[in-house]
Amino acid sequence: MDKLIIRGGKRLSGQIQISGAKNAALPLMAASLLTDKPLRLSNLPRLADITTMGDLLNTHGATVTIEGAMGNGSPYGRILSLHARTITDTTAPYDIVRKMRASILVLGPVLAREGVAKVSLPGGCAIGTRPIDLHLEGLKALGAEIALDSGYVTARAPRGGLQGNRIVFPSVSVGATENLMMAACLAAGDTVLENAAREPEIIDLGRCLLAMGAKIEGLGTGTIHITGQSGLKGADYATMADRIEAGSYAVAAAITGGDVFLKNADGAIMEAVIRCLEMAGATVIQSANGLQISRTGPLQPITCKTQPYPGFPTDMQAQMMALVTLAEGESVIREAIFENRFMHVLELARMGADITIDGAKATIRGVKKLTGAPVMATDLRASMGLALAGLAAEGETHVQRLYHLDRGYERIEDKLTGLGADVERVAT
Ligand code: UD1
Repeated sequence: MDKLIIRGGKRLSGQIQISGAKNAALPLMAASLLTDKPLRLSNLPRLADITTMGDLLNTHGATVTIEGAMGNGSPYGRILSLHARTITDTTAPYDIVRKMRASILVLGPVLAREGVAKVSLPGGCAIGTRPIDLHLEGLKALGAEIALDSGYVTARAPRGGLQGNRIVFPSVSVGATENLMMAACLAAGDTVLENAAREPEIIDLGRCLLAMGAKIEGLGTGTIHITGQSGLKGADYATMADRIEAGSYAVAAAITGGDVFLKNADGAIMEAVIRCLEMAGATVIQSANGLQISRTGPLQPITCKTQPYPGFPTDMQAQMMALVTLAEGESVIREAIFENRFMHVLELARMGADITIDGAKATIRGVKKLTGAPVMATDLRASMGLALAGLAAEGETHVQRLYHLDRGYERIEDKLTGLGADVERVAT
């Protein structure tokens, strides 16, 4: 198992390219199951989760072909051609689903196309219980019968297929909005999703579905209207840039007092993160092709709360917390999306951070310095928070269980090294 060794204290400067967004890429890949024609996706990041989703599509009978290193002007981008000519197997097996919760995104497409889908229940995970009730209630509203048996959920469409309906989500869910949006594309008649998620990744999926011939209105608002079609066609589509990767490297620049240009980062969809970076004392300059982040003065404390988009993203909470461990004063960060997403706190404390947790509220009293330590995180963004702390810490930080970072950060050691960090991947 690899680990990352970070020798902290280097000021980061230069430019890196932001990769395609993992959280957009996964639903886009699942959307290929809605059509018997090829869906060609470019600017996909090279990440373990993308490979896992490819394996899952294979299981359902889709072919996944890499068409070379191009796409969207990104040197890291490549085109993946996904072709589900027929769905040969409607089951998403435990062995794949347990690796990646986003596997649940095949439920809607397979059900809508085949009339039946069976997906292993994703179960809990390190950052909370993460149920899928909103996905299932939504599919029921489209007429599906849901059965739970032996760790699997089986959804069956009525004779004649899924029927459009009005679905009011009791709370905002990114995945449930995506699953229902995809299923509704092949349901009969109109579906209205109320209290839908407004995340940019939902818009990206919607745009791809539009290119595939779907009829969708209201993307980016809380009310999405979908008129079902009898079939969808293939399309070519470029995945959006990763706003969480961009935010994470923005913190890397800020925590090291650096000056970094994030090529392809889209500041227009990062407003809440940019506000927090500025509150913390960073200077952020937006331009047409990216974001420039720098910091010269001292780090300042912040107050922020995670919320559905356009609020501050929960996927940036650990990284922002790492940043303000070194602020001059007391910060408060509230986690309002997941009930157990402070797993990085004890590890940050081992590096010298002063943090108190009270339920969903973290109070971070800035310290003068962090010191390197062996650390271990139980989820992807928490691991990044620790790596970022390591960049600013005195001495060596060893981030263990690197597979978490590999799920969400493409070529992390290359990108950090390219900015002047002293970072090394070693096999243990
Ligand atoms: C997606 C992102 C993840 C991010 C999260 C919140 C992907 C692949 N993952 O996850 O990185 O942290 O959005 O921005 O895009 N919930 C229920 N019932 C459900 C579904 C969700 O109660 O059926 C709850 C969850 O437990 C959580 C909240 O709703 O408390 C939001 O979860 P959701 O938006 O669904 O997250 P994911 O789509 O799993």
